[in-house]
Amino acid sequence: MLKKCLFPAAGYGTRFLPATKAMPKEMLPIVNKPLIQYGVEEAIEAGLSQIAIVSGRGKRAIEDHFDISYELEHQIAGSSKEVLMEDIRDIISNCTFSYTRQLEIKGLGHAILTGETLIGNEPFAVILADDLCTSSDEGALSQMVSLYNQHQCSIVAIEDVPEDQTQNYGIIEGEEIEDGLFKVSNMIEKPAPEDAPTNLAIIGRYILTPDIFDIIRNLKPGAGGEIQITDAICEQAKQGKVLAYKFRGRRFDCGSIEGYVEATNHIFQKQHGAG
Ligand code: UTP
Repeated sequence: MLKKCLFPAAGYGTRFLPATKAMPKEMLPIVNKPLIQYGVEEAIEAGLSQIAIVSGRGKRAIEDHFDISYELEHQIAGSSKEVLMEDIRDIISNCTFSYTRQLEIKGLGHAILTGETLIGNEPFAVILADDLCTSSDEGALSQMVSLYNQHQCSIVAIEDVPEDQTQNYGIIEGEEIEDGLFKVSNMIEKPAPEDAPTNLAIIGRYILTPDIFDIIRNLKPGAGGEIQITDAICEQAKQGKVLAYKFRGRRFDCGSIEGYVEATNHIFQKQHGAG
């Protein structure tokens, strides 16, 4: 059974400089909630309450966010502001949080391997908090957990991207075995459009079986000189079974300014009624 969700959150967020000079990208707010809180809420909805965070230097605000602030609680006790703290209080009381630091930023695969000490030998989910997923019914990760319970293998979330954008994503190739569900035969990290076998791009939601750690340990740096998780999952696909799933819902790339603004408008309109 899946219990743990890993959040790689050690990256520098250079596309958001200077905002991310002293503040973690994962703490950027979409309206009034930091990005990483949306991710943790998605994990909880999927039944995963053991939250493991790979952080790094300059990321202390994440730990403080998922902790009690006694001064603040004292200050707002009995006031109308308490309602704004309800969600985060629930999260803190219903989840456990564990942290480890990635000492050098060597890529997402390396960040996930750094999280091994928090995960151990069990299957786990991964959320990249800068990909914000919304849906009108079940959350993206919850949909993937249902699939994991049927298939017991690694699963990546995918979406169609414009053909001229494949160089920004890991791209999968595979056979569609059910509507929106693919058995992966190959994966390529950031292919140029002319080299991309499809326009099915991996987005920041994964369920991984723990053999992934040994595979990453033996990987050589890939695209951009980084240890790429795509290369490790591709190994799994060649050894056995990996599924790719077009989840129901919408993804916002909040690691880019444009996606961040779109997400902000979308969430604002959801909260305040379509305007
Ligand atoms: P990104 O490449 O989108 O994030 O990595 P970044 O490097 O922080 O952003 P830019 O490109 O400089 O603006 C995707 C996710 O993987 C994590 C990041 O924190 C982000 O959540 N990551 C990436 C790590 O934790 N460690 C790494 O070595 C690389």
